[in-house]
Amino acid sequence: MALYSDKVMDHFLQPRNLGTIENADGVGEVGNAKCGDIMKMYLKIDDDIITDVKFETFGCASAIASSSMATELIKGQRVEDAMQLTNKAVAEALDGLPAYKMHCSVLAEEAIQAALEDYHNKMEQK
Ligand code: FES
Repeated sequence: MALYSDKVMDHFLQPRNLGTIENADGVGEVGNAKCGDIMKMYLKIDDDIITDVKFETFGCASAIASSSMATELIKGQRVEDAMQLTNKAVAEALDGLPAYKMHCSVLAEEAIQAALEDYHNKMEQK
């Protein structure tokens, strides 16, 4: 069996929603100290709906595929639903990741959580 699923390869080679959002409503950046990979998520939110999401990932193939899939999963979702997104759901949507690569999907969950937290902090300051 191939190490990576077709979906992982597809999202790694053709990442969806790659880039940044100017004046994003929420930005979250997280890293993994062990491997040194970094993931940054940008959210545009209108009326509690995530209308746009972009990411920048300096990391391995699984981290890039996980961020790409995670953006697809939360785009168009309500903020409260996006907060429930787990790394397991990201990995499942990718048709699985090798066990030693599961931490790469954790980065995607954490980056989205951090961006949503940033959004909530900004809302409180308004
Ligand atoms: Fe670090 Fe994949 S090896 S996120």
